[in-house]
Amino acid sequence: MTTSGKRVCFMTGATGILGSEIALSVAGQGYTVFFTYNSSEEKALQILQKIRWVSPESQMIHCDVSKPGDIIAAFTAFRQHFDRLDLLIAAASNFYSTAIPDITEEDWDNLVDTNLKGTFFTMQEAVRIMLKQSTISRIITLTDISANLIWRNFAPYTVAKAGIQHLTKIFAKTCAPGILVNSIAPGTVTINPEIEMDSEAEMIKKIPLKRLGDPLDIIKTITFLLESDYITGQVISVDGGRLLQ
Ligand SMILES: NC(=O)c1ccc[n+]([C@@H]2O[C@H](COP(=O)([O-])OP(=O)(O)OC[C@H]3O[C@@H](n4cnc5c(N)ncnc54)[C@H](OP(=O)(O)O)[C@@H]3O)[C@@H](O)[C@H]2O)c1
Repeated sequence: MTTSGKRVCFMTGATGILGSEIALSVAGQGYTVFFTYNSSEEKALQILQKIRWVSPESQMIHCDVSKPGDIIAAFTAFRQHFDRLDLLIAAASNFYSTAIPDITEEDWDNLVDTNLKGTFFTMQEAVRIMLKQSTISRIITLTDISANLIWRNFAPYTVAKAGIQHLTKIFAKTCAPGILVNSIAPGTVTINPEIEMDSEAEMIKKIPLKRLGDPLDIIKTITFLLESDYITGQVISVDGGRLLQ
């Protein structure tokens, strides 16, 4: 059990392109980070090494968030290391194109279980710890502005992200006043060339601030939420105005 007195963050999705930058930033802001990875063990080890330069007690564990049993096991391991939980960042997500006539039950389960079911059971385990604490703790979910757009070929993903935004509000109301629960909905920050989407130039045309997002835009919003004591149940779009119609 660690006794350094530092604040502790549990984070899923810390091996992602954006997620890894968030994990490093949170460690740099004074948190010990306990993070999960699923398929990227090698990348996870590299990230852990970097995080430990600033936050030596940080840990990582394998967890497939689509399996609630894995989430319970990860939190059991977490409790063996830490006796407090100040921050949950739920960023684990998978994302691929699914045209409506072709969506299989396997696609649906894969996308909805990872994004929505996984986030719910991670939040549930976190609040079981946080509700017993006397200090303020925080949950930040990572969703997507696509929850508010009608994207033809991403129904299970966008429905799951919309579900997380609703869960964010339910948890915020249920867990007040001790736990502040908010969501960040990024616009496009990274482009996966394997997924059929608009070109970068086409995307930028639709963004009033005329650029894609940068990980720093998301990190600044997380820092803002970590410093705020009177905001809960909000979904903050960090999208350069993309949702303005
Ligand atoms: N990047 C963007 O442009 C953008 C835009 C809008 C919203 N977002 C949201 O922001 C968050 C971070 O994005 P990102 O760019 O870092 O995503 P990413 O690069 O696609 O990474 C996805 C992360 O989720 C984890 N993951 C996937 N399936 C999992 C499973 N079954 N169990 C546990 N973990 C699983 C991956 O772990 P492994 O690699 O270890 O498998 C990885 O850490 C996500 O929630 C994403 O939806 C991102």
